[in-house]
Amino acid sequence: MKMAVVGCGNLATAVISKIDGVDLHTYTPSFTRAEELARLKSGKAYRDLKDLPKVDYLVLGMKPQQFEEFAFGFKDQLDKETIVISLLAGTSVKTIRKHLGSKRIVRVMSNTPALVGEGLHALYFDNVENTETVEGFFKTSGKTIVVGSEEKIDAITCFSGSGPAYVFELARVLTNELEGRGFSQEEAEAVIKQTILGSSILMSKSESSPLELRSQVTSKNGVTEKVLGSIEADGFEALWKKAILAGDQRINELKG
Ligand SMILES: NC(=O)c1ccc[n+]([C@@H]2O[C@H](COP(=O)([O-])OP(=O)(O)OC[C@H]3O[C@@H](n4cnc5c(N)ncnc54)[C@H](OP(=O)(O)O)[C@@H]3O)[C@@H](O)[C@H]2O)c1
Repeated sequence: MKMAVVGCGNLATAVISKIDGVDLHTYTPSFTRAEELARLKSGKAYRDLKDLPKVDYLVLGMKPQQFEEFAFGFKDQLDKETIVISLLAGTSVKTIRKHLGSKRIVRVMSNTPALVGEGLHALYFDNVENTETVEGFFKTSGKTIVVGSEEKIDAITCFSGSGPAYVFELARVLTNELEGRGFSQEEAEAVIKQTILGSSILMSKSESSPLELRSQVTSKNGVTEKVLGSIEADGFEALWKKAILAGDQRINELKG
């Protein structure tokens, strides 16, 4: 099974580095990251797109804004039977088909916890028969969910694709706050990381909903209730609804 990866940045490297048993060929304009990924998987990196061999699977890992430039230089070379697996946010099947001429397309919304085998990959298949093989690639770095419409890939992007950044931002803010209370940066970071890790594991292992788990930490008139009450009074939920809408709008812009 031959696979080419064009664009070997944070996400593509997180996902592809977990896949075994493929004959891997990589390309990036600056070569460096292509070489790094190829070295990890005993594959081959290329300086020139024209030298990429014919493959069974072509993984697109560049930024959405970089796709057209890539496609312009690659379209004539692509075997139209190759299954194109796109990791790009907001780049539709229609756009990929128009610029690459590919018949078989998979759109995937992944996230960077794939780096530690805990990613979430949402897959949408367009005219692909052997879906199990492709899903198997992604199962090596996390959980998969197959969606029946392309709209769901766009809808999930602000949640699972961007979601880790929200958690990291919360961690940043809480770490800074704790640091101001006599803890060193290392101590504060360790406390917040372990709190988020413990809560995530508890949430994933427990049958209780996030709301129920929250209640278990929130005693009547206690400290947690005061903190959450203050956040809620400042419009926490409305703030998130507005923020997600801004993300949805960006997806629509990318989709053109
Ligand atoms: N990062 C995330 O958490 C995340 C989550 C969900 C979805 N995504 C999607 O994943 C994709 C990649 O994101 P990323 O954060 O991994 O980006 P990134 O780290 O910036 O990596 C982009 C890669 O694309 C390469 N590239 C640039 N122009 C190219 C061209 N014309 N042809 C081929 N390759 C080209 C870059 O090459 P050089 O190394 O030479 O610069 C780099 O290796 C995006 O489309 C994004 O929407 C990302």
